[in-house]
Amino acid sequence: MQSTKYQTIIITGSASGIGASTREILEANGTKVIGIDLRDADILADLSHSEERNRAISETIEITEGVIDGVITSAGVGPPCDPKKIIDVNWLGTVELLKGFRETLASSENTVRVVAVSSNSATITPNVPEDLIEACLTFDNERVEHILEGFSGMAAMAVAYAASKTAVARFVRQNAPTEEWAGSGIRLNSIAPGAVLTPLLQGGLDDEEFGDAIRTLPVPVGEFGSPDAIAKWINIMMSDAADFMCGSVVFVDGGSDALIRPNDWPKSFSI
Ligand code: NAI
Repeated sequence: MQSTKYQTIIITGSASGIGASTREILEANGTKVIGIDLRDADILADLSHSEERNRAISETIEITEGVIDGVITSAGVGPPCDPKKIIDVNWLGTVELLKGFRETLASSENTVRVVAVSSNSATITPNVPEDLIEACLTFDNERVEHILEGFSGMAAMAVAYAASKTAVARFVRQNAPTEEWAGSGIRLNSIAPGAVLTPLLQGGLDDEEFGDAIRTLPVPVGEFGSPDAIAKWINIMMSDAADFMCGSVVFVDGGSDALIRPNDWPKSFSI
């Protein structure tokens, strides 16, 4: 295992699942973790609300005295859940915090690292409207709501979840190689887990409609992942092993994405 040189890492969603496992590994390595979550965290904040996101950012900068060595955004909600809330927590709760911490991260003398938790839902969910992803990326809330109104029930939640996670991955791809991020010593990358047995997934499994859909999702390695399996990868992506990683979206999903769309990647482009 690569060593981390970091002292202070911020983790959103640190109270449960992937965030909690990541916290455990980093703390065992001597890293100071500042957790942001609804409960059991250093900073209690509801990241579905703009004011709370801003407060979480300013309180974090205050208690770290502006010295932040890395950020992991793991806070998230999944179906069954109000579709708008899925966008608010998973997309805005990620991107606004990343933007809010960018300047502080850039002021570090060391190379700093960011891992944004996306999902393989971004690639394996069919029929996600491109304009919903675009509305997220352009922060057009009215348009997001309008598009979501065109869906109901399970479909609305599924497209909201997939769009929120696609927007996270695209934000990483669009920004990681820029002067503001890579050029400022920040390695911005994303991880796309598949079905991982956490309270979030259990909520879906316990749901009458979603339960069957999740159980029939093919996972070629044979079983759901553990939060620890994802946390170990995040730990690597927060270490100097990731010095040459920039804008990567790392799929750790038991093979579901490869099975469902084997030929959709890699693809070149035309000029
Ligand atoms: P989890 O439910 O165990 O942990 C999520 C954490 O986010 C919880 O501690 C929760 O309190 C916090 N959170 C939720 N809403 C919040 C809010 N409004 N403000 C602040 N914190 C809030 O779930 P899990 O599975 O560990 O999820 C972590 C991330 O991984 C999420 O972004 C999720 O979308 C993503 N993911 C999970 C997969 C899975 O199968 N479990 C698959 C792919 C991605």
